[in-house]
Amino acid sequence: MTADRKSHSSPAARGGLVVAIDGPSSSGKSTVGTEVASRLRYRFCDTGLLYRAIAWLALERRVAPTDVAGLVPLAAEIRLVADSRGRLRRVEADGRDVTVEVRSAVVDRAVSDYSKVPELRVALVSRQRAIAAEGGIIMAGRDIGTVILPNADVKIFLSASPEERARRRAAQRKTTEEGEAEQILDELRRRDAIDSSREIAPLRPAPDALLVNTDGNTFDQTVAMVVSAIRSAEGGAGGR
Ligand code: DC
Repeated sequence: MTADRKSHSSPAARGGLVVAIDGPSSSGKSTVGTEVASRLRYRFCDTGLLYRAIAWLALERRVAPTDVAGLVPLAAEIRLVADSRGRLRRVEADGRDVTVEVRSAVVDRAVSDYSKVPELRVALVSRQRAIAAEGGIIMAGRDIGTVILPNADVKIFLSASPEERARRRAAQRKTTEEGEAEQILDELRRRDAIDSSREIAPLRPAPDALLVNTDGNTFDQTVAMVVSAIRSAEGGAGGR
């Protein structure tokens, strides 16, 4: 066990390593992270769901991003829900499943303005750390390797050009209209700018992150790169 892992118990005791995957919108963190987690039998947590669900609830209740006192308590009404393989890929707000709603274009447009509120981010730190505490987890977000889990065993920063990410997002939405595709690209650029320039926990790679640019990669190639980074860290940590 090396010094930079000093805050964790041994990987074997925890049932696997702690893996942070950060990157901008539509860089593939969630799809790649989910697939890698299935192959390695790790748990998975998409922290973007927390911010999305809070933004969704705030929009429902007409709480503005500037209304910090109204916003922070909403975090307590959000619950991540695990599937049978321990993957936290569904979210409940106000007692009901809103996983589909939180991926709407309305939430897409609003979420960066909510997630840059420092008090809200602080309220979510211990929760995310508690999820990762047992190990054997891949946690995806923007600040996982830099702020939430600075001692993570493996840190990956996934990136791709805005054009490539916009193409993937358009394909996901089955968009064929050029106007809509351009709108997706503009929207991605706007969110990148807010997420990267905010004062607290801006989107940026941790100094010790492995940078993976997925432009031109197939999904399987990217998955293989991440699996191999984790396997070699598992070997370095004494195996599982
Ligand atoms: O990864 P995503 O597109 O689902 O994230 C939605 C928003 O939440 C995005 O604008 C940035 C924010 N977010 C964040 O600030 N920190 C995280 N750890 C995860 C997401």
